[in-house]
Amino acid sequence: MDKILVKSGKRLGGEVSVSGMKNAALPILFATILTGDKCIIDNIPPVSDITLALDILRTVGAEVTYRSRTRVVINTAGVRPCISSYEMDNQIRASAYLLGAELGRFARTRVGWPGGCNFGTRPLDLHMKGFEAMGATMSTEGGYIVGNAEEGLHNATVYLDVPSVGATVNLILAAATTPGETILHNAAREPHIVDLVNFLNLCGADIRGAGENDIHIHGVEKLHGTTYTICPDMIEAGTYMTAVAATGGSITLRNVVPAHLDSTTAKLREMGVEIRTVELDGETAMTVSSDGILKSTHIKTFYYPGFPTDMQPQFAPLMCIAEGVSTISEGVWANRFRYVDELCKMGARISVDGSTATFVGGAKLKGAPVVAFDLRAGAAMIIAGMIASGQTEITNVQVIDRGFYNIVGKLKKLGADIRRISE
Ligand code: EPZ
Repeated sequence: MDKILVKSGKRLGGEVSVSGMKNAALPILFATILTGDKCIIDNIPPVSDITLALDILRTVGAEVTYRSRTRVVINTAGVRPCISSYEMDNQIRASAYLLGAELGRFARTRVGWPGGCNFGTRPLDLHMKGFEAMGATMSTEGGYIVGNAEEGLHNATVYLDVPSVGATVNLILAAATTPGETILHNAAREPHIVDLVNFLNLCGADIRGAGENDIHIHGVEKLHGTTYTICPDMIEAGTYMTAVAATGGSITLRNVVPAHLDSTTAKLREMGVEIRTVELDGETAMTVSSDGILKSTHIKTFYYPGFPTDMQPQFAPLMCIAEGVSTISEGVWANRFRYVDELCKMGARISVDGSTATFVGGAKLKGAPVVAFDLRAGAAMIIAGMIASGQTEITNVQVIDRGFYNIVGKLKKLGADIRRISE
């Protein structure tokens, strides 16, 4: 198993290019099933969740050809429903999107129970409620989720109890070629929903309201293939912003959408970090500078455009060393503070009470052997290692590969003292 070894003392500097957004690419890859045609997808992040999603597509009959590390051609003419494997489906959360794609194209589906990071329970009740409202009969059989719409799917108006990303994606996939108008109320507003709808509309779909609370999906007869470029990954971008905030220095982020980072930018500015949007070579970029002296702040994670839950672990090391007391209140997941014990091993002073973690700042972190419990917590361990005295040894690093492409190489290029070793 690989380990990542990190030492402190280096201020970051230089440019980093942000990869395509994993959580936008995953829905779009499964959405290609609806076209039964050839799609060319660009700016795919070369991370293990994507590799697995493409393997799942191959399992159900798609032809998948890599044109480059970040460009893939997918032909889904040969896709058939109900033949994916439990072992593969159970490794990632995004396999859930196979439900909406298979129901949308074939009116039947069978998918192994999805996996994903462990933040407590990860229910699918809103997905099922929506499919049933559209005429599917849903059940679970031997670990598989099975759905069938004898008469085909029909349009429906669905109120989502919470603006679930997964349920919003799945119901868009199910409704895109279902006759009539399907309306999703209280839909997720994340940029990855907008990216999915942009892709589907280029394939001939008629979907309005992406990014708003209500999404209207007018089912069309047929979708065709298209060429599409995935939007930049706001969480990867935010992670590099927190890294330079921690170490001090100044970096430039390329291939980034500043508007997607409004909440992260606001919080880092509260902590004393200088952030600017600039035009470089005709493209929008962001510069992030810090002297490494940070003020405390308070974060409440919430559904987009609230502060993203996927960015809270990366702020934790900053709060450990900031002046004063900071808090993180987790408003999306039941238990996303497993990483706190790992930071306490390094000398952090953190207490967790229910959904709120309280950080007493001014800690002098010391390197220690720590575990990456999930991909964002793994990034937090790297950031903590870059500010702790001595060496930090991170294990279980394969979880970081799920959503961060070449994080060691990109940080090394920025000047970090970091390396990856294979045991
Ligand atoms: C997506 O997960 C992301 N994963 C997660 O990112 C992210 O943390 C999450 O959205 C929230 O932004 C992918 O996109 C692959 P949800 P998802 O459905 O779709 C409740 C990462 O690090 N809920 O929006 O599974 C649920 O319990 C990962 O990249 C129901 O109650 O999240 C949670 O409290 C980690 N019933 C809330 O909604 C349902 O049927 C948000 O879940 C579905 C969800």
